[in-house]
Amino acid sequence: MSSNDKQFATVFVAVLGILGILAIILYFIAGYLTADMAAYKPEEVILENIKPVGQVNIADESGAADAGSVAAPAGDAATAAAAEPMSPEQVYQSKCLACHGTGVAGAPKLGDAAAWAPRIAQGMDTLLANATNGLNAMPPKGLCMECSGDDLKAVIDYMVQNSQ
Ligand code: HEC
Repeated sequence: MSSNDKQFATVFVAVLGILGILAIILYFIAGYLTADMAAYKPEEVILENIKPVGQVNIADESGAADAGSVAAPAGDAATAAAAEPMSPEQVYQSKCLACHGTGVAGAPKLGDAAAWAPRIAQGMDTLLANATNGLNAMPPKGLCMECSGDDLKAVIDYMVQNSQ
């Protein structure tokens, strides 16, 4: 071999060696940098992100006997409704606001102290009785047919509190 060839071989082996060592170093650096990504499960994240917003409950999930499963959904709905009663404010928003928010047909507006003062002066019993039975354009129970007497009283309380 000429001295040129020898020189080439030396440099070539040296470069190969350096590249090899570099590869090993990079391998460990990469392992170190991605160590905390081991817990990352892309499939789970994607499934969580694209899951449907709601679920149709077609059967009693408690796995009750078949015989009971037909009645179960109604029972579930009833317990759910009972478990989460609407707050007086929510009842007001959904049932009374339509008239009492704007003063439709002479309804005393929520927050209108002047309109409410003479009504409040009648006392809660009269307010409740008039709201329950209806008064002129005020429909019985304010159209909240599912409201109990206590519910109505709570809503009237809410309206009175906010109209003084
Ligand atoms: C369709 C419209 C309408 C809806 C809905 C309505 N109200 Fe009224 N409400 C009226 C009108 C009109 C009056 C005034 C009646 C009058 O004095 O002639 C009134 C009056 C009242 C009064 C005062 C009664 C009195 O003795 O002066 C109360 C209390 C009341 N409403 C409660 C409610 C509650 C609680 C709801 C919801 C559950 C409700 N209203 C829903 C129209 C409505």
